[in-house]
Amino acid sequence: MPEWLNLPLGLGGASLPKDMATLREMKERGEPIAMLTCYDYPTALLEERAGVDVMLVGDSVGTNVLGYASEIEVTLADIRHHVRAVRRGVSEGYLLADLPYRTYEDETSAVANAQELLLSGADGVKLEGVRPRIVQALSRAGIDVCAHIGLSMQAQDQVRVKGKTFDEARTIYEGAVALEQAGAKMMVLELLPDELAQAITRRLGIPTIGIGAGPHTDGQVLVVQDMLGVTARAMRHARTYLNLQELLPTAFSAYVADVRRRSFPADQNYSHMREDDALAMRGWLDAPNG
Ligand code: KIV
Repeated sequence: MPEWLNLPLGLGGASLPKDMATLREMKERGEPIAMLTCYDYPTALLEERAGVDVMLVGDSVGTNVLGYASEIEVTLADIRHHVRAVRRGVSEGYLLADLPYRTYEDETSAVANAQELLLSGADGVKLEGVRPRIVQALSRAGIDVCAHIGLSMQAQDQVRVKGKTFDEARTIYEGAVALEQAGAKMMVLELLPDELAQAITRRLGIPTIGIGAGPHTDGQVLVVQDMLGVTARAMRHARTYLNLQELLPTAFSAYVADVRRRSFPADQNYSHMREDDALAMRGWLDAPNG
């Protein structure tokens, strides 16, 4: 473990690696599950140290890290690259990876692409929408599946709370039940009203993880960039624990200023040659053929 990570232990502490059975037991005990997105090795170490239960390499990596205009530009190769980095930092948390847009159009490609993610180090895969046939194929292939319903960035949905009317709510509820019956082992509920998220959570045996879906789901997930204040816009569903939008530019400007006025590097930031070697070098450089 790198020296800079010598931080006090968070709520986690050393424990066995989490799997879907552990997460289900947490639901049964009424112990809330903490999930965060994670895209790189140092963040993975820090999240694990803080006791995050599930690290998600989400397709939100596209807009939050890679500078893409939308999640649908994210490729399987992108997710694999980030999963490999996160895997190096996660030993106790559960590492979930998104199947990106159009990588699960049919059962065969879904299984093949999910297996690629597992080979890169993911413990399980997440996919958007109500796709029971795909979920069933994956789970028959022995792959842990987390379903994701409500807002679907891959479907380029409008950002609005889904399921506010009774008809919409019933369709979503029935979709959730069908996904569990197809073998889903966990479910993300994104931007659903509290009442519906609560009803689904009560009905399902598998853990539900909410984002903008109220306090009654079995766990919560946030995009790490949102909770660290890297994302410029404030979002109602997120809580900002740090304001990196302010802190990072302040640090970058201080560095630029220090370089300009030559106050960086300071003595402690570099080394010297031994005096006799420095003298010998100077003599050699000053010699006619030096
Ligand atoms: O990709 C992602 O970050 C997600 C979360 C919003 C759950 O799917």
